[in-house]
Amino acid sequence: MLGYVRPMRREDIAQVSKIDREAFPSEWPPPNFRRELENRLAHYIVACDPEKTVDRPEVEVSPEKGFAGLVSRVRRLFSHNRLFSEELLAPSGQYIIGFAGFWIMADEAHITTIATQKVHRQQGIGELLLISVIEQATKLNARIITLEVRVSNTTAQKLYSKYGFTQAGVRRGYYTDNKEDAILMSTDGITSAPFQARLEQLKQAYAMKWGTAHYQGGH
Ligand SMILES: CC(C)(COP(=O)(O)OP(=O)(O)OC[C@H]1O[C@@H](n2cnc3c(N)ncnc32)[C@H](O)[C@@H]1OP(=O)(O)O)[C@@H](O)C(=O)NCCC(=O)NCCS
Repeated sequence: MLGYVRPMRREDIAQVSKIDREAFPSEWPPPNFRRELENRLAHYIVACDPEKTVDRPEVEVSPEKGFAGLVSRVRRLFSHNRLFSEELLAPSGQYIIGFAGFWIMADEAHITTIATQKVHRQQGIGELLLISVIEQATKLNARIITLEVRVSNTTAQKLYSKYGFTQAGVRRGYYTDNKEDAILMSTDGITSAPFQARLEQLKQAYAMKWGTAHYQGGH
């Protein structure tokens, strides 16, 4: 299955939060995506299923006319309900199957999260997201990409290793839920010729296996 990747928007928060809770049920507090999207250093992307849509909820329409109707429309404009209903789903109805986020700090891109919906795992979505993160980080002039991963999360470690991340250190008791250690992983220079050549090879292998992926919209 091949999705497409685009920047995350505020309307995606509900779908992304659901994937986040499924992927990281023990991590508390959950990420504040609304704040992350307003953070200039943070960059979030979503992978969408091109063949699926989410249903739109009934849009609340005020039956009132004239001045009362105007007052009620203005009230709705500033009300919590309006913000909430906007976040329930994407206006385009796009169905999100995975997401990733990273922060740019000086010349380092730090991956804060990456997750695929459980039912869509092992279908190339995590890899598609990681390729997109690497490409975006390169465009944003990052020199290296780093991340933390649980010692027990060998699935994610395998994905990162495939893309040239190696262990750079250990953070003892990093995860507050069970005091698990984190492995700090880092790439070599992502603009170096060997890294880019390897990335190109991996992208070609990916295209052979899953088809040609694309990124919609830029930073
Ligand atoms: C890690 C995660 C994002 C991978 O997503 P995915 O969509 O299943 O990954 P893909 O199908 O693109 O697989 C890409 C690579 O990941 C690794 N991988 C994925 N699933 C794996 C599994 N069950 N066992 C071992 N390696 C696996 C492999 O290296 C695979 O490449 P390969 O097919 O050439 O062997 C997904 O398992 C997930 O959301 N996990 C929960 C959240 C999480 O742990 N995120 C990482 C936090 S640091």
